[in-house]
Parts: sequence; C-alpha cells; structure tokens
Amino acid sequence: MFSDIKFNKEVPVYIQIKDYIKEMILGGMLQSGEKLPSTREMSSIMKVSRNTIIYAYEFLEDEGFISIKKGKGAFVCEIHVEMQEKWNVNWNALINDYARASESLDIVKHEAKWKKGMISFKSIAPDENLFDVEEFKKAFLNRMSIEGEKILNYGYAQGYRPLINYLLKYMKNKGINIKGKDILITNGFTEGFDIILSSLTKTNDKVLCENPTHNTAIKIMKLHGLTIEGVDMDIDGISIKKLEKKLEKDKFALSYFIPSYHNPTGIVMSPEKRVKLYKLLKKYNIPIIEDGFNEELRYTGAHVAPIAALCGEGNSVIYIGSFSKVLFPGIRIGWILGDENIIGYLESVKRSRNIHTSFLDQAVFYDYLQGGNFEKYIKKARKVYREKYEFAIECAKKYISSGQVMGEGGLHIFIKVNGINSRKLLDRCCNKGVIFTPGDIFYTDNKGSDTFRLGFSRVTKEEIKIGFKIIGSEVENLMKETRGKENV
Ligand SMILES: Cc1ncc(COP(=O)(O)O)c(C=O)c1O
Repeated sequence: MFSDIKFNKEVPVYIQIKDYIKEMILGGMLQSGEKLPSTREMSSIMKVSRNTIIYAYEFLEDEGFISIKKGKGAFVCEIHVEMQEKWNVNWNALINDYARASESLDIVKHEAKWKKGMISFKSIAPDENLFDVEEFKKAFLNRMSIEGEKILNYGYAQGYRPLINYLLKYMKNKGINIKGKDILITNGFTEGFDIILSSLTKTNDKVLCENPTHNTAIKIMKLHGLTIEGVDMDIDGISIKKLEKKLEKDKFALSYFIPSYHNPTGIVMSPEKRVKLYKLLKKYNIPIIEDGFNEELRYTGAHVAPIAALCGEGNSVIYIGSFSKVLFPGIRIGWILGDENIIGYLESVKRSRNIHTSFLDQAVFYDYLQGGNFEKYIKKARKVYREKYEFAIECAKKYISSGQVMGEGGLHIFIKVNGINSRKLLDRCCNKGVIFTPGDIFYTDNKGSDTFRLGFSRVTKEEIKIGFKIIGSEVENLMKETRGKENV
C-alpha cells in the first residue's frame, strides 16, 4: 500500500499524494479511524521529502478527509459515501425539440471529417502561424499589472469599458455615425446574432437574408423558429429585383446581410447596391442586421463603407462585428453596435445568459489592440492572405476550369459547377485525401448542390495546387460520367 503511487511531471507531487490518499479513502481502501503512516514513514515509502507529505496531509485535513491529532498522528475521518442501488434516467426521452434540432443542425458532427494527412479546404479560420504571440503575452502582463486582481472578479455585462470605447472609435473610423449608439461585447458574432434574434423576433417571424448565407446564421434562425426567406444573389450581391418582389408580397421582422466577403460566395456588395438595398428596406421599414465579420480582409480596391454608415444618425442598422477572422477566433470576442436603447435590452439578455464575456480576455485584448498591434497584424495578414487568395483563384481557374469561380477577398472562394453534385465530388475527393465544404449547407432552400466552398487560409500554396488539381480532375470525371449517362 502507498508504494505503488506513480508520479507524473505535470502536477505538484503533494497534490498527487493528496488525491491518491483521497481516492483510497473514497474507494474504501482506507477505513474511517484508520491511522495513516507517520509523515516520516510515508516519505520513505513514497520516496519524497517529509515536507511534501506534511503539505499533502495538511490539505487532506483542510478538505475534511483526515484529522491530525497532535502527538498521535493522522487519522481517516468518517466519510459517508453509501453506495445505493443504481438509478438511470432515460435522458434521451427528456431531450427537447431545441436540443434535438441543435444536434441535427450541428455540421461539425454530421459533415465529412478531416483525417490526418488530408488537405483540408474546410476551414475559414485564420492561420495561427500569423499570430504575434509575443505581443499578446506582453499585453497580458501589461494589463494584469494595470488592472490587478479586480480583473479576475465579476465585470459588467455590457463589456470592458476601454474595449467598448476603442470599438466605438473603430466603428466611427469606418464612417459610422455613433451618436445615440452603443456597443455590447459578445462571445463572437454567433452569440451576438442569437441575442439579437432572442430580443427582436418571435416564432414564425419572417427574416430576409441572402441565399446562400452563413450556415451558423441559418442554424440560429431555425432554432428560433423563424421562417427564413433567402433572396438569390447576382454576381455583385443580393438581387435587388428579387428582394423587391419578396417585400411586395410579404411582411418581414428583420433582414440579415453579409455585404463584404460574403460567406460562402466571397462577393462584396458594391457601394451602389448597398444604397439600393438600404433605400428599399427603408421603404418597407425592415431593420437591417449587418454582419461585418470579414470586412478588413480587403486585398484590392477602395474601402467600401458598411451599410451601417448609410443611415447617419438613424438607428435602423444593427452592426455585428467579430474578431474571429481578422484576429483570434479562440478568444471569442465580437460586438454589437446599435441604437443605445436596444443595446440596453441586449445587455440584459446577455447578463441573463452568461453574465458577461470574460473580462480578462477583453482587457488583454484591448491592451493588444490599442498598442497598434492590430494594424501591424492586419497589414501582415493581408499580404499573406492576398498572395494565397490570388494563387487560389489562379489554380481554381486553371484546374477547376469548368467551374464558375467566385470570391473577391477574405479567406475562401466559392465554386459552382453546373451539373455536378458537390457531395458526390466530396466523397471522391475525400478518398483522394482532399476535403472541402459542400455548398448546399449555406442555402436556405435546399439548392446549391452544384456548389462548394474552398477555404485557403490554413493551407500552403503547394497544398492549394495539389488539392485543386485533385478536385478539378474529379470534377472532370463526374462530368464525363454524367454526359455518358445522358448519351445512353
Ligand atoms: C458570415 C460570418 N459571420 C461571422 C463569423 C464569425 O463568427 P464568430 O464571431 O462567432 O466566430 C463567421 C465565421 O465563419 C462568418 O462566416
């Protein structure tokens, strides 16, 4: 007994000893009232210093597992763990519709998975090799020394004030009039969108969006029981004509758009189209939710102002920003900019859900941003991504030549090949070690079976070349087979 303990290098030895003895007590190997070996004996059994045993015993006493009697030794306390007859609940039967729908819409679980060695074009996450970890470490130490222990205590639901002020200025610099507006810090776009829908919609409300659109947005809208009305896109963004037709026929609670480097098509809505869209929705009084997630990843052309900039002092546009593509997705920081009255309500919804986004994360992030690191990083990232983007477009046109290639920036391109089924294509490519995202998951009307998205941010140029060649040759094979069947 006691001599079989095996130490690892990660956890302090006194904690390993404490947990080992606790486990013996809970497992009934040590009975209540039983005397533990003296600290001297135990140290020679376990081959550790006596002080380590003394420390471990002190913790065991603090946690109520042993009592140390002066001059007598350490004794196991009476611990009541009376095993009862096994009781199982049928949790499956209790799972409600919300959880069932969440599970069935969970593409991470249900879509084709990356396996070691595969070239993956699935991801549109940033390339972590570009992150300036040293600057982030400095920001962490600096902010910890400024804020001290209070940064580890509860914060405010609206967010860390210096970060809010930084973002207000940041939004002003995008041409947005921030008078009468405020910001709520969220756990990325995803939470922001969910909070907005929870606050402004009710089941069966109709929501307008581009078709295709961000799959997570579709999922959240479905989970809110909303009716999604996707409007087809032209080569320069949403079809204004089709949008107008829908507006003439129906009533809508809200609209949601991704005007820059749209996911999945990569299209940037032109400034003229943004104005037309804004005017049309103004005419029908449908508030706009603008998703500006990728805006900074512009590689050519002039800055295009967000739709939120068009309404001046007006409050009709709610802008959701996120640092998930332009910086670090793991830190889960996004924001909602909108009418201050609405932000007040959204703040309460946020508080009722998760109190606030981690204050430590917000504070460190703020320190990192305000030191000019963001500008430096984005300059570097743009250069790297632009090169990959241009190379991806070149390879797509060369190797997947039957496809219509879309994408004007950002971290992905989108391809449509008339007459092929992208899921069949995916199956074949997976067998050849290449994986991507089938386009149908982005469609609001079960269409898009002939489309797919290729993320290039986390692959090398060499992988782009090899991968696109494989996809291209499988496209050709599929097309030949289809033609063959038609000729029979
Ligand atoms: C259209 C769109 N908006 C926002 C996001 C970012 O979401 P989050 O901030 O929750 O990571 C993504 C990520 O892929 C996206 O595609």
